[in-house]
Amino acid sequence: MRLPATVNVLLLGTGGREHALAAAISKSPRTKELYIAQGNGGTATLGTNVDIMASNFTAVKQFVVSRNINIVVVGPEEPLVLGIVDFFLNDDDIKFIPVLGPSLNGAKLEGSKQFAKDFMYKFDIPTAAYKTFTDKNIDQAHLFLETLQAPYVLKANGLAAGKGVVIATTLEEAKSEVTEMLQGKFGAASKKVVIEAYLDGIELSVFVATDGKGYKVLPSAKDYKRIGDGDQGLNTGGMGAVSPVPFATAEFMQKVEQRIIKPTVDGLAKEGIRYQGFIFIGLMNIDGDPFVIEYNVRLGDPETEVIIPRIESDIIDLFEGIVYGTLDSKEVVISEDYAVTVVCVAEGYPNEYRKGDTILGVNNVTESTVYQAGTAVDEHSNLITAGGRVLTVTSRGKTIEQALAKSYASIDKIKYQGIYYRKDIGKDLIALQKK
Ligand code: AMP
Ligand code: GLY
Repeated sequence: MRLPATVNVLLLGTGGREHALAAAISKSPRTKELYIAQGNGGTATLGTNVDIMASNFTAVKQFVVSRNINIVVVGPEEPLVLGIVDFFLNDDDIKFIPVLGPSLNGAKLEGSKQFAKDFMYKFDIPTAAYKTFTDKNIDQAHLFLETLQAPYVLKANGLAAGKGVVIATTLEEAKSEVTEMLQGKFGAASKKVVIEAYLDGIELSVFVATDGKGYKVLPSAKDYKRIGDGDQGLNTGGMGAVSPVPFATAEFMQKVEQRIIKPTVDGLAKEGIRYQGFIFIGLMNIDGDPFVIEYNVRLGDPETEVIIPRIESDIIDLFEGIVYGTLDSKEVVISEDYAVTVVCVAEGYPNEYRKGDTILGVNNVTESTVYQAGTAVDEHSNLITAGGRVLTVTSRGKTIEQALAKSYASIDKIKYQGIYYRKDIGKDLIALQKK
């Protein structure tokens, strides 16, 4: 089975990730029409934004049928964790239209920390030791904490908008935090809490495309989660990214493949879990050995904005391999250039932030690619800020330094009230390279 020679694509999502995916999709000679639900100011320049909520599967179905969509590509985790793949498979009208992403069971790798940890243990995939607790056994949770060393890692079992992981520095803080979590601090998401050992190393992410049988390893990336330079301050959705990660050497990546990627893909197949999509593996490199921190069942944002620009082969061909189980016949060509991206956010983010400010200068950027996220077009056709992470500026270069210089020079041309961005993206990697 294969896709028609040219296809109509529906892409679900609204962020910078979706702008980067839309750019690759619209560049493909195999793309006829591209629709993005709901998209943003950037995707509107590459295809047609449609006002459908990705979680409204009935509306998605209607659109897919009425516009002869040939493939649905899911950007964020929410529709996957809500079961969009199973929704399509269970409906005779649309069951032949492929949706790129895991089934409901596969999406649990992201939707339930306990499921992910149990899966890793079952298939001998290296990860931190852990136990799961509910409000019925808070005392045992406290006893388990006493057996661990500081700092303490507490994870709400369910999706908590990126806020569900708490790293407590003292035993006292960890005990009171786990009590609050189990008593509903993150609502239903923290009715169960996974407590795990702290992994001390350097973090990176590896991305994989799988058709359920085989896989292709996509570029590695490192993101910068905290709001402030030097990794200080509150957690965010991500303030920048670099790809590839220089310490992800061939030797290290071979360990990742043998110890993590292969057993993950094989494990999904053994469990009978349908998984045709991306796996985003958060890793800790501890003295050259990889350990899994978490799985996500989609591409990352802003990691996509540095991964996708490095993929030189056709993206529709890649999607076709994923959804029809023919990945092994596809070649994924990855550029050797570095790509970096620096996220510009609205004043106040990640707390309450400014909105509605006019954005100037995006069209003056020539050396970089600007991917939009929290933007909108007002009634006077002005581009305005409309979200916390407003836009991200991606550049390529032979070195990380070269690529960064371009992104920061491009950002100097972009103006909006209260613009904020980190000035130290990639600096830690440059320092490591010099060691
Ligand atoms: P997550 O929301 O699952 O991405 O976790 C947020 C962050 O917490 C990760 O990116 C890591 O920096 C950190 N983290 C999670 N688990 C561990 C662990 N076992 N040891 C050390 N850091 C961790
Ligand atoms: N940048 C982290 C994520 O997409 O979850």
